[in-house]
Amino acid sequence: MPNFHAKNFIEPVYPSSYGKSNFEFVAHSNRGDRLVMSHLEDNDLLLQIIKNKDSYLVKGDKITRPSQVAILQQVLRDYRDLTNTIPTNSNIDSKKEKTLKVSPFLKTMEYFANSFETSKDILVEVGFGSGRHLLHQAKKNPDKIVIGLEIHKPSIEQVLKQCTLQKIDNILVVDYDARTFLEFLSSNSVKQIFVHFPVPWDKKPHRRVISKAFINESKRVLSKGGTLELRTDSDNYFEYSFGEFINQEKVELHINKNKDLEISSKYEDRWKRQEKDIYDITMTNKEISEEISKIGRLKFDKNIDFKELKNRFQEATLRGEGFFAHIENIFEINENEGLVRVSFGASQRNEHSYIYIKKDEVTYLPDNVLATKDNEKAHKLIKDFIWNM
Ligand SMILES: C[S@@+](CC[C@H](N)C(=O)[O-])C[C@H]1O[C@@H](n2cnc3c(N)ncnc32)[C@H](O)[C@@H]1O
Repeated sequence: MPNFHAKNFIEPVYPSSYGKSNFEFVAHSNRGDRLVMSHLEDNDLLLQIIKNKDSYLVKGDKITRPSQVAILQQVLRDYRDLTNTIPTNSNIDSKKEKTLKVSPFLKTMEYFANSFETSKDILVEVGFGSGRHLLHQAKKNPDKIVIGLEIHKPSIEQVLKQCTLQKIDNILVVDYDARTFLEFLSSNSVKQIFVHFPVPWDKKPHRRVISKAFINESKRVLSKGGTLELRTDSDNYFEYSFGEFINQEKVELHINKNKDLEISSKYEDRWKRQEKDIYDITMTNKEISEEISKIGRLKFDKNIDFKELKNRFQEATLRGEGFFAHIENIFEINENEGLVRVSFGASQRNEHSYIYIKKDEVTYLPDNVLATKDNEKAHKLIKDFIWNM
């Protein structure tokens, strides 16, 4: 990630501008670390200045990192030039791009929370890997929307490239954990969910995609007659999943062994060459589910006296059943304003954010933490702690 090291560093006056970047304020922690609130075009990001033994490291703070590395590089170059710093070591002039490229097919969670609406049927594929099956479904169903979920960036890049090359326009790719994605979809809106060859996680079963919660959410988003299709080469995963499916009410289950599909994935070809058995469990949903409200953003509804909070601040880890909140550090902008660094969520997915305390307002920074079920629970822990600690 872009950064520079320097032997000396002179703090500028805030606010300051250089090039197209604005540097609004600096916030100091007791440990000597600093955060610089920076803006470039529509991007709000924090730079982190870390004092080592005899040098400084300046880099983008992970939490507010923009999706384009080039933006962060530009802000770091502007900050270097604003402060007349001569780096001893730097990679901010390199053009190597490590994050996902912008593509009309790649969608964020904000898109699903705020803008996604369709009257078309939806298909969802979890962990599409090489994308053979996903691309096949999109070509076969040009009148449907096919949502592909994946967490492996090279696989995502590959599929985005194929969408452009093959002129496919009905795929939406999401770089997000499938275990919590379905919360963002309306009830009864999905025709098929495919989970093909999920990672078996024999040693860490809690990381499996198939779980009671996932099956419940699948049932909610599936239309009446819609299906959730699990395909696996693992006897263990099959047995475990069957145990989860069998407890569902108002569903029909079909089991198949070594059934051929219209398209065989890379993984499937490998297992077939090794003459491994392949199992399918297909769950058909038999009921209509209630609508749920759209996912909003987490909000604070009270102000807090920053000076008083700083005096009594201590690092803490708070736990609820299946979720947690870690209050990590506090940074002072001035005696009335500051930032508290927090991480929170459930075992599946952690959020990292700052709580930005101003004189008359408390918000998350960036102010886009989605009010998913897990986040809501952890947010409550944070509020109880901040106001009552
Ligand atoms: C064994 S591969 C199978 C890929 C593909 N379905 C196939 O049949 O070739 C499992 C894929 O699931 C992805 N994956 C694992 N856990 C996931 C999760 N929680 N959310 C989304 N994708 C996940 C992995 O990155 C990997 O690409």
